[in-house]
Amino acid sequence: MLSIKEITKDNVRLCFEFDSKTISLWSAKQWTEELKKKSVKVFKLSLLNEVIGICAIELVIDEAQINYFSVNKKFRRKGFGTHLMRYLIKICEELNIKKLILEVSETNYAAKNFYNHFQFFTVGIRKKYYKDGSDALLKEKTLIKK
Ligand SMILES: CC(C)(COP(=O)(O)OP(=O)(O)OC[C@H]1O[C@@H](n2cnc3c(N)ncnc32)[C@H](O)[C@@H]1OP(=O)(O)O)[C@@H](O)C(=O)NCCC(=O)NCCS
Repeated sequence: MLSIKEITKDNVRLCFEFDSKTISLWSAKQWTEELKKKSVKVFKLSLLNEVIGICAIELVIDEAQINYFSVNKKFRRKGFGTHLMRYLIKICEELNIKKLILEVSETNYAAKNFYNHFQFFTVGIRKKYYKDGSDALLKEKTLIKK
C-alpha cells in the first residue's frame, strides 16, 4: 500500500540512507540540521515498507522552497514523483502557501522536465552555481487557493 508520512527529526538515518542510494545530496550532518529546523517539513512516500521518495520543503512566510525531492531509482518514471508532488502541492495549499520555489541544474533533464510538467516557470539563472560548473535554474510555481 502507498502512503505518505511526515518524517520527524529522529529519522536522520532513514533520510541519509535513502539519499545515499539516490542523489547523495546531503551528509548525515546536513540531514540532522535540516530535520531540526522548525520551518522544514520532510515527507516520505512508501510502498509497503520500502521508501520510494523523499521531499523536504522549507516554509518562509507564504512561500515554500523545495530543498530536496528524489525518487528511488528503481521506481522512477512510474508516476511516484507525480504522486508526491501532488501531495506537496495539496499540503502547501492547505498551509496558505502562495508560491513553491526551487533550484535545479540546467543539466538535469529529468528534473527540468518533471518541474515543467507541473508548470514551474524559470524566473532566474545562477551562473556556474554547481560544483560541476553547471548553471542553476530558479523555478517557481504560483499556487491558487481552491
Ligand atoms: C525528477 C524525479 C523526481 C521524477 O520522478 P518520477 O517518479 O520519475 O516522475 P514521474 O514518473 O511522476 O514523471 C512525471 C513526468 O515528469 C517528466 N519526467 C520524469 N522523468 C523524466 C525523464 N527521465 N526524462 C524526461 N522527462 C521526465 C515527464 O514529463 C513525466 O511524465 P510522463 O512519464 O507522462 O512523460 C526523479 O527523476 C528523480 O528522483 N531524479 C533525481 C533527483 C532529482 O534530480 N531531483 C530534483 C533535484 S532539484
